[in-house]
Amino acid sequence: MTAPTPALPAKIDPLVRAFLDTPGAVADTLDRFGSPVHLVFPQVYAENLAQFRTVLDRLLARYRICYAHKANQSLAFVRTAARAGIAIDAASPQEVTSAVAAGFGPERTEVTGPKGEVFLRDLIDRGLTINVDNLWELARIPELASDRTGVPVLLRVSGFEDGQVSRFGVPLGHIERAFELLSAHRDRMTFLGFAFHLDSGDTNERIRAIDACLALVERAYGYGLTPSVLNIGGGYRQVFTADADRFDEYVHALRESLLGRGEPMSWGSNTFGYHVAGGAVHGIPVFHKYANTIPATRMLEDLFTAPLERHGGRTVAEVAADNLLDVWLEPGKALVDHAGMTVAMVEFVKEIADGSVLVNVDLSRDSVTPADQEVMVDPIILPRDGGPTIETQPVGVYFAGRLCLERDLITNHKVWLAARPRPGDLVVFPNTAAYHMDLSAATASMRPPLIKLAVAHRGGDFQVCHDSDYDPDLPIAPHHKTFRHSPVSRIPTEAP
Ligand SMILES: Cc1ncc(COP(=O)(O)O)c(C=O)c1O
Repeated sequence: MTAPTPALPAKIDPLVRAFLDTPGAVADTLDRFGSPVHLVFPQVYAENLAQFRTVLDRLLARYRICYAHKANQSLAFVRTAARAGIAIDAASPQEVTSAVAAGFGPERTEVTGPKGEVFLRDLIDRGLTINVDNLWELARIPELASDRTGVPVLLRVSGFEDGQVSRFGVPLGHIERAFELLSAHRDRMTFLGFAFHLDSGDTNERIRAIDACLALVERAYGYGLTPSVLNIGGGYRQVFTADADRFDEYVHALRESLLGRGEPMSWGSNTFGYHVAGGAVHGIPVFHKYANTIPATRMLEDLFTAPLERHGGRTVAEVAADNLLDVWLEPGKALVDHAGMTVAMVEFVKEIADGSVLVNVDLSRDSVTPADQEVMVDPIILPRDGGPTIETQPVGVYFAGRLCLERDLITNHKVWLAARPRPGDLVVFPNTAAYHMDLSAATASMRPPLIKLAVAHRGGDFQVCHDSDYDPDLPIAPHHKTFRHSPVSRIPTEAP
């Protein structure tokens, strides 16, 4: 018996799995709308949201979920969020426009991130909650407010003990000036409370940040301020892998290959953020998030039930309730986890000088990869007509695509496929809804952005329409594609 080839199997939501397993569903979608496409599944989003709510209803006296729009430009997600009655975190004028169009009023919209003067003025005019990033914004808001009163503001703070230095927020060391401004302009600005967002999944770091904000709440009273909100931002993790052991085995083999042992597994001189020195591999790779096995709901549970030393061991949830604080959360990636995938088509397969096999698809790296990460989830091949004939042995390949630099491969790590694909086969990139689709997508070489489609499961059928046409309350128009699906166990039958 030969050893299994290294693999990074993807966790797939049952609804998405059912769509993939529906004969002809993916191929017919591409035939109708073209290739490549991004597919979003708003009902998976709704299910993720329901799971968040179940945990938060149990743990918190009062809370607000603000969906971080930046995770995906999908209008279907924003409309699903609006329909579900949550709030939204918009980070640009365009996201504000999208939120307003989906039905978010000022009472359900907060705006985060650094803002220029034109944007600030617009937010004041619209009456949206401004999550202030810095002292310049805080000083400018009352000046721009002219005769307006009560502009709702949150103050983002940063620079917590043992945390990373952040380019966002007001550093704790500068907080005195913020208190002075908030206090001096109480007529112009209504101070709702403190906010932070950590670019980390570390629960202890989040607990320290909450503790620091609680101390700020106490200090704020001394300035005549009465904060009622504690906004703890986003950063709740996704689970990409279906098999943590195989993931670890893959990474072990990859590290070995970087030391020259076993089959080469990386394109060019890529080390994925590892530092190779002294016959060993050191450091944390750029892809570390793909190893996570702790779901976002468990993170929430751990966070809100954590005892706070400075508060006599009462939990984060209890202290928030004692202080009548409304806890706001800004989940992005956790709400869209498993709610999207990207499908491309094999154009050709090519062998290059060193014997490496490249599978070229009609897609570029930036359409499925956020920033400078390496996506450690195996693509799934859907053979076009009846499966392979050229080669039936597993084959290690790199996925390549459009764009022109030598390093512009879609996978810089080797992917093992059951057989060599053929032109016309479809390639599914799983779980791309969170930042993978839109964060880095460029229009280099004058390529247009990918088409985005929404897939809904209603009355036993899958229906596909343009993302911008999706309405959670309405069935998809009959001229859009409908497929019969094979039954699966857990599928929500209706939109939220
Ligand atoms: C202020 C703020 N809130 C929320 C988020 C969403 O984070 P995540 O998608 O990790 O939940 C981000 C992401 O960059 C952010 O900058």
